[in-house]
Amino acid sequence: TSLEANVLIKVEITGKVALLTLNRSQALNALSSELMHELIAKMQQLEANPDIGCFVITGNSRVFCAGADIKEMQIKSCQQMIAEDYFSGWDQFAAIKIPKIAAVSGYALGGGCELAMMCDVIYAGDSAVFAQPEINLGVIPGIGGTQRLTHSVGKAKAMDLILTGRHMSAAEAEQGGLVARVFSDETLLEEALFAAQSISEKGRLSVALAKEAIDASMELPLAQGLVFERRVFHSLFSCREQQEGMAAFIEKRRADFSHD
Ligand code: HXC
Repeated sequence: TSLEANVLIKVEITGKVALLTLNRSQALNALSSELMHELIAKMQQLEANPDIGCFVITGNSRVFCAGADIKEMQIKSCQQMIAEDYFSGWDQFAAIKIPKIAAVSGYALGGGCELAMMCDVIYAGDSAVFAQPEINLGVIPGIGGTQRLTHSVGKAKAMDLILTGRHMSAAEAEQGGLVARVFSDETLLEEALFAAQSISEKGRLSVALAKEAIDASMELPLAQGLVFERRVFHSLFSCREQQEGMAAFIEKRRADFSHD
């Protein structure tokens, strides 16, 4: 319908998994402010629902996302960029507590690669192409590319990619540590949804805290990170999830975390 054609983010819920499909294919899913607001609003609404345990974010077979919207940005001045704190809206996306899996086939360029990197896990189809091509536009990555890419693939590869703007294949991205697993394009979404379903059946609290502890490793010195982990581990012993998970093991049955 014409209404669906105007929707920039399609949402499909299966069990406890929300699949979000970027639906702006005429602009190769470029991240306009409108798309950003719609994506974040839908995710925040879903996050408030205790029946949702994991997100999968995907594009289409040709393009995951071609980046920030160059047509929207082109006319802006430096003063406007600073006054709007352009791209700061994406902090709310990164701050979503429920795990987000990016399922990437085709192009993930610039802000598209950065969108994938703001997710907790990236799975790629074998056609996936990652790049930070902003240098060709006379700018630099602006939604975390210089930071998150360097954290995942190391300085050598991040320099190489960001200074040349070259494309990186799914295989190279997996080898470099950006991508968790590569699947055939045909099975990518199915595999991503399968993993998301598996995550959504774990304890909500232990999943959120495991994610928080891993994220903390990006910020903290090792000794502090280890203390943070241990305290979080201790605190889980006040929660039903730990009682249920360990009792289920001893009783040789499958843990049921659905009431937590
Ligand atoms: C706005 C975009 C766009 C983008 C594509 N389109 N990418 N519009 N922002 N990032 C639009 C094109 O203008 C075109 O619109 C339509 O989508 C189809 O794109 P084509 O280029 O005609 O398709 P194709 O020839 O197949 O080439 C595909 C492509 C190329 C290789 C992905 O579109 C491309 O290089 N796009 C830009 C990639 C990029 O530089 N991304 C980084 C952006 S900056 P019309 O109206 O002509 O049909 C960024 C970082 C932000 O993300 C940080 C600071 C900048």
